[in-house]
Amino acid sequence: MTREKTEILFSEESIRKRVGELARQISSDYRDCGELLLVGVLRGCYIFLADLSRRLSIPGGIDFVALSAYDRGTTATGPVRLVMDLRTEIAGKHVLIVEDIVDTGRTLDYLLSILRPRNPASLRTCAFLRKPSRLSKDLKVDYVGFDIPDVWVVGYGLDYMGRYRSLSDIGIIRAEGDPGPAAGARPAVR
Ligand code: PRP
Repeated sequence: MTREKTEILFSEESIRKRVGELARQISSDYRDCGELLLVGVLRGCYIFLADLSRRLSIPGGIDFVALSAYDRGTTATGPVRLVMDLRTEIAGKHVLIVEDIVDTGRTLDYLLSILRPRNPASLRTCAFLRKPSRLSKDLKVDYVGFDIPDVWVVGYGLDYMGRYRSLSDIGIIRAEGDPGPAAGARPAVR
């Protein structure tokens, strides 16, 4: 897999360290809550969720949703759609949504709006990366791995045009010689 267009933003070691810190914080915060249901947002969450879940010291389960907000083949944004719902009934349960990245916040905002009415005992959010400069509204993310500038990042579950997801570190794609993702815009297929 070519890395020519990327430079490392977070090494595998710094990711591992930060995931451990998040896991300790979450385990401590939920220690008296019984079980915690982790809800991963496909597809980007899959590596972070796998790592985080294995380092929590509290009992719980895992489920997934799939959401789509970007029109295939264009950079245009459409309405966020629920592509795959949970298989788990969440009423009365402690739920933590797990995202790889919060960019504009539209995806997370939409997911919260459909899960809240299902009356979970609690509903919080965890994102490994967040772009504060891109957030379109005042959206609270309860656990954040790293705040990053408005750059296009790949690896650790994040892709660019379907590539780079399986990289162990997180890199930046630079636009040199290739328009790539312009600042503020994003490709449809990540
Ligand atoms: C990415 C990411 C988040 C969302 C964040 O998913 O995994 O779910 O975008 O963007 P937002 O804050 O602007 O809504 P994407 O739709 O690219 O799909 P993927 O997870 O399958 O790569």
